[in-house]
Amino acid sequence: MSQEITFTIDGVEVKGTKGQTILQAADEAGIYIPRLCNLKGLIPHGSCRVCTVLVNGRPQAACTQPIAPNAIVEANTPELNAHRRNLIDMLFVEGNHFCMFCEKSGNCELQAMAYRLGILAPKYPFQFPVRDVDASHPDVFIDRNRCILCGRCVRASREQDGKVCFEFVGRGPHKRVAVNAEAKLAETNLDVKDKAVEACPVGAILKKRVGYAVPVGQRKFDKQPIGADIEAHRTSGK
Ligand code: FES
Repeated sequence: MSQEITFTIDGVEVKGTKGQTILQAADEAGIYIPRLCNLKGLIPHGSCRVCTVLVNGRPQAACTQPIAPNAIVEANTPELNAHRRNLIDMLFVEGNHFCMFCEKSGNCELQAMAYRLGILAPKYPFQFPVRDVDASHPDVFIDRNRCILCGRCVRASREQDGKVCFEFVGRGPHKRVAVNAEAKLAETNLDVKDKAVEACPVGAILKKRVGYAVPVGQRKFDKQPIGADIEAHRTSGK
């Protein structure tokens, strides 16, 4: 039997059910908490920390932290948003993100999050790492220059596609998404229709031959900021 739990997010009373995470309950209540590594339908990973909130004054990842009765959650404070800006800033300089040349521009969650948080240019020095591109697959390519190591492709392949096409290898600055093959993506059983292909929040895994099908300026986050769809639940009262 579901057990209703009442708590507050930024002073707003929210009702959720036992077992839900703060992020899930917030989404249902129409309160958007920024996130990157979380994707609805996948087991939460808790790695990017963009969703960090304060629960009774203590920092927690909203995507993994279960709701608790009478908890006081702070999600949208200047300090938390400064922390999020720092994380996004670091993700931009750790990889090679050139939005003006990327066909994911306008559909990219990293770019959209930067705009939502008011980032116009990263404040840290660019690292310009040397990363590889794997275009061996007939229908899909990986550009690791744009990978933010969210693990969504890894989890979607396992949890939704029933495959193990991707895995993390290496540590620290050498960590990367590897393919489950001797050498290249073409040797895996990845299919262009796999959820793992759709799961990438940036332009690291893309389908071939569909780039720029929708003109820049008419894409998802060109029309509305990231999170606006969730916030619309609240304003429309649904
Ligand atoms: Fe919660 Fe990444 S969305 S840690």
